[in-house]
Amino acid sequence: MAGSPESSQAYLQAYLIDGKAVSTEVLGEIELAARDLVALGVRPGLAVVLVGEDPASQVYVRAKGRAAEACGFHSVQHTLDAATSEADVIALVAALNADPAIHGILVQLPLPAHIDSAKVLETVSPTKDVDGFHPVNAGLLAIGQTHRALIPCTPAGSMILLREAARKLGVTLAGLEAVVVGRSNIVGKPMAHLLLAENLTVTIAHSRTRDLAAVVARADVLVAAVGLPEMIEGAWIKPGAIVIDVGINRVPGEGLDKAGKPKTRLVGDVAFASACKRAGAITPVPGGVGPMTIAMLMKNTLTAAQRSVG
Ligand code: GUN
Repeated sequence: MAGSPESSQAYLQAYLIDGKAVSTEVLGEIELAARDLVALGVRPGLAVVLVGEDPASQVYVRAKGRAAEACGFHSVQHTLDAATSEADVIALVAALNADPAIHGILVQLPLPAHIDSAKVLETVSPTKDVDGFHPVNAGLLAIGQTHRALIPCTPAGSMILLREAARKLGVTLAGLEAVVVGRSNIVGKPMAHLLLAENLTVTIAHSRTRDLAAVVARADVLVAAVGLPEMIEGAWIKPGAIVIDVGINRVPGEGLDKAGKPKTRLVGDVAFASACKRAGAITPVPGGVGPMTIAMLMKNTLTAAQRSVG
């Protein structure tokens, strides 16, 4: 097919899509735009709510707070005890909805088991829903009203990296076969809508898909969002495909760290070494989609603040 990644020769080494570099560029633009807003008397404000002490969530929340400060935002973190009642979490979200200094609210997931996450997420005002998880924002995305929605951060960041890869490889995205592996509300489903909006032909594969290898082999664009370390084998990938690996999985590494504990390392959902020999372009883990997610959270906070002043 002319213009598709398939038309190029088999790749020996994929182009590595540098999410860190792209995110740094995006964050620089956000910082400048935030300065313009501050000059108008509006400092973008982001509130992050963390319930409990999940170590991975603590790391993510700290990173989000640091990024917000680096962008010149007003940044607040509410850390609640793991035993906090659902009513108290909802009351906090309602107070943040009413706070004019806050333009973006993020409730870190997962919430403790006694709290109904859907109920809490539906309490966040859609105009402050910088995660894009509220049904109003999910609905706007599903009906193609992306300009009015706040888009979930990981899929939004993945689309930027995909466009960057397509530009680098000289391919047009419209009309290509995209396969999204994973059907979560956070990544798989919104990603599929974004790809559809970009005129790709989209398949969503999941844990019940028959012959996943054959489905993956059709993909000119493969998005892996399953949360299983290196489950997608390099040999399944169509030569020249663009691979966006959303997975961040911690696996045992080699040897011991300075504290004498067994080392760990991060891997994606795609077997990176073998995928590099087939793909035209691929996002590494770490340093691919991860940094883009935080940059998109800042972008959504800026957008929410800009919309608040028209
Ligand atoms: N937990 C893991 N990923 C996310 C995310 O993107 N947003 C929130 N709120 N919680 C998460």
